[in-house]
Amino acid sequence: MEYQQILEDIKTEIQPLLGKGRVADYIPPLAAASPYRFAMVLRMVDGKLFQVGEARESFSIQSIGKVFALTLAMSLDGDAIWERVGREPSGSAFNSMAQLEMERGIPRNPLINAGALVLVDMILSHARSSEDLLLDFVRRSAGKSSIGYDFVVANAERATGYRNRAVANLLKSFGNLNNDADQVLDAYFRLCSLSMNCEELTAAFMYLANGGLSPSGEIIATARQVKRVNSVMLTCGVYDEAGDYAYRVGLPAKSGVGGGVIAVMPGKFVAAVWSPGLSEKGNSLAGTMALELLTTKTALSIF
Ligand code: DON
Repeated sequence: MEYQQILEDIKTEIQPLLGKGRVADYIPPLAAASPYRFAMVLRMVDGKLFQVGEARESFSIQSIGKVFALTLAMSLDGDAIWERVGREPSGSAFNSMAQLEMERGIPRNPLINAGALVLVDMILSHARSSEDLLLDFVRRSAGKSSIGYDFVVANAERATGYRNRAVANLLKSFGNLNNDADQVLDAYFRLCSLSMNCEELTAAFMYLANGGLSPSGEIIATARQVKRVNSVMLTCGVYDEAGDYAYRVGLPAKSGVGGGVIAVMPGKFVAAVWSPGLSEKGNSLAGTMALELLTTKTALSIF
């Protein structure tokens, strides 16, 4: 298949969407991003790489990082994680609090903010002082030790993250955080601030397409964990747009309010897209269209 030509065609076809949508402005440094930017990278399980646009431009991966937290928490705590977080789509916004109150502090799933805060709490409970298990995990899965946090973004979110602070305190009040709420929030904001480009993202998530193996052949997750993480992404990865995504794209995917989206075709490829203009639900507009065009033009989806 002519993957490079397919990506070039996609880049042409998404042009009318560039500049559309809203850039996330509730985290001040993200408000400056131009909605005209675009990148798309396709990494095949055999290592071949295809790319268009600004594939090496780093951006804030935001909620995409929740997938790393889920995989790591699964390997640290196994099935016990499901006593503290559900695995059903929430059907509501990623930062919604109403459901959490109604469901007595058990987040609907690990990929909404409340769920990710619980995962980060689980991970913190395993770390010795100053150890950063999440950053080590991301660097290992991407095979790149230079990947790091953007502290300008993390500090800005800490200063303005009133809703996340409320969610963390609600979790604590229900006894679903073991560590100090501020400590959990700091680790969560750092995770969201990870700065990566599309090329690095496809490497970091290759384990989900390749039976748990990183591009350098390191074991990142078991086959069973890979199946489970992909399933949770399919049903919960793009919040209350999960149904539309499954319909249009047909792949497990995870988005972030920085405008990035990763999508996984098990056994075949990982795709990463970036364009900061977001839909009402907080997912990249051009990025979603690019993924829909990819699975349509290649006729490769999980269905
Ligand atoms: O906690 C927040 O609101 C952000 N750090 C992450 C939100 C996010 O990326 C949701 N994704 N679409």
